[in-house]
This record gives sequence, C-alpha cells and structure tokens, in this order.
Amino acid sequence: MLVTKQPIFRRFWYPVMLVENLTAGPQSFQLLGESIVLWLDEQGQPAAVRDRCCHRTAKLSLGKVCNGNLACAYHGWEFDGKGACVRVPQLKEGAAIPASYRVSAYSCTVRYGYVWVCLDEPVSDIPEIPEAADSSFRLIHEFYEPWQCAGLRVMENELDLAHPTFVHTTTFGSEEHPVPDSLDIIETDYGIHVEGVLGVVNPELQQQNLKMADSQTYRTLEMDWFMPFTIRLRINYPNGLSHVIVNTMTPMSDGTSQMVQFCVRNDTEADTKAADVIAFDRAVTLEDKRILESTDYDVPLSASQEEHMFTDRPGLLIRKKVSALLRAHGEVEQTLSRLERGLDPRKEKPEQRVEQLV
Ligand code: FES
Ligand code: FE
Repeated sequence: MLVTKQPIFRRFWYPVMLVENLTAGPQSFQLLGESIVLWLDEQGQPAAVRDRCCHRTAKLSLGKVCNGNLACAYHGWEFDGKGACVRVPQLKEGAAIPASYRVSAYSCTVRYGYVWVCLDEPVSDIPEIPEAADSSFRLIHEFYEPWQCAGLRVMENELDLAHPTFVHTTTFGSEEHPVPDSLDIIETDYGIHVEGVLGVVNPELQQQNLKMADSQTYRTLEMDWFMPFTIRLRINYPNGLSHVIVNTMTPMSDGTSQMVQFCVRNDTEADTKAADVIAFDRAVTLEDKRILESTDYDVPLSASQEEHMFTDRPGLLIRKKVSALLRAHGEVEQTLSRLERGLDPRKEKPEQRVEQLV
C-alpha cells in the first residue's frame, strides 16, 4: 500500500513537531507528500497551511510571522491561520483583497507537547493516552527523526513479540524466550488491543533505570494500536514500574515516516534520570531502525504476498483492519506493480492459508 495514494489517511491526526519548535519562527514539514508550513498565531496557537504561496508559488516557510499572520518572503503577502490573504502590501490602502487570494489551511492543535495536524475532515480523535493525564506519571520526549520505512512496518514490529530475541540482542531480547508466554488480541473501535507476557534480559543500564537488580525479568505488556500509525506500549515490570511508550510514525511520503516517540513513566527524575531512560530506549529503537529500514515500504495488505507465523497475528489483523478501512471509504489499495517490487508477476499466491492465522 502506498500511503500517499490513499486519501483516507489525510483524515487522521498526526504529530508533526514539538510545539516549542515554532517559537523559532515558521517551520516546514512534509505530511503525506504535501508540503505544509506551521507557525504560531497571535494567541500562541499553531496554524498550518500549504507551504506554497498562491502568488508565485514561493515557499511560505521562508517567510516570517507578522502580527500572528505568515508573511511571504517574496512579495510580502500575508496569510492568516485559515489560509486567507489578509494583506497585500502592493494594494492601495482600503482596496479589497480578492477572495481567491488564499492557500489551503489544515486542522491543527496541540497535544502531549506536539502540534498535531489533520489534512482533511478527521474521522477519529487524537489517540487518548490516559497516563499522560495522570499526575503520578511524567512525560519524557524521546525521539523525532525520519525513518526510511513505512509506518505499518513499525506498527507491526511493536506488536511482534518474536523479534526481540533476534533484534534486541544488546538491550532486552532473551534467547531463552523466542516467543511470548501469552498473546491475547482484542479488536477495538480505534484499532486493536494486545496483551502479552514476554521474558526479557535486564542489562546493567536497565537494572539502574528500573531499580531491579535481576539480570532477567519479564514484561507484562498492554499494547494499543491506534489506526493508522500510533502505538501505545505499556510495559509493566514486576516491581510496579510502568514505562509507557507512545510512538507515531507520521507518514511523510510513501517510503519515509517521521518517528515521533515520547514515554510516560510512574517514577521521578530523582529515581531515574530522563537522559538514562532515553539512552536505553535509544539503543532499542536503533536496533529496530536498522532492520525496519531494510524492509519494503509498499506493505501489502493482502496476506498472500508474504509468509507468516502465529506471532504475526497482531500485524495480520492490522493489515486486515486497514484493508477494511479502505473498503469502507470506497478506496482500492494502491501498490507498486509486482515488477517494481522485484516479484514475478506470474506467481500470485492464494489467500486461504492466512485466514487460519487471524
Ligand atoms: Fe508570495 Fe509573491 S510569491 S507574495
Ligand atoms: Fe523492537
């Protein structure tokens, strides 16, 4: 599936950057192949419009903020947060500005410290993270960087409890636990909820971070996939510590996703320094990134294009639900051709084996 070719993805909210980045002036971002520009209006609220002036197409992100409006760097036309041109310096005082002088504007709001943008009429809300509103938890911003892979691959990866043994060899993967002790999946209105128990190793930095001296432990996992590209991964440890990872792979283009990750924990800076929490999670994410960037970005929704095993059930359900989403909105999955994917177009495989897994 090519995300930029499926209009339904324009109807979801995505975090595009930390709101504090906007204090430095207008910032550009590419969302689903669309160039947008964000800035803070006079009330300090974020605004987002297309990053292309309606006069001579200059990038508005080269401009500056004037009285809460965005002024183009080429001829100074000014646009408000709704995309309307509110000042044309070349017009005589009092002359009307034509209504056609405008650029597309997008829904934009702040949540969890990030600016979230939706390019079209939203079909769902921003994912609810209950721990972020709980005063016994603290929020730590972790990562913000482009990954050269599809968001769906990362969603599947986070719910794939067979990969830690092989991918997280320097962090928490345990050779003794190649599969989870349990794996339960429930379909929800927002996506899926998965619960599982996985034995893991507990290296030295983690022993300090978790305040647990054992070299082995287990994670009781509560995971939510919020359609289409957000995961909440609550890791509960035996000592009562909960580490909740929230990760959105904001789709920039078909092959690039902006990895936006924060975590929420029920401990304090005095217990464990945020820098140490980030250092461990950094090592974990780099282990994933290396593998995920080697995968095809055109993730097939049809299960017949790749092989599967029982631990892939959450990922297969994700594909099935995305497929149903497309159908519900009258869309057909857009893909690279089999030739572009390096496959033999004469060899199509039947679907039936996969039905038994999901
Ligand atoms: Fe923007 Fe001319 S190109 S004002
Ligand atoms: Fe991983």
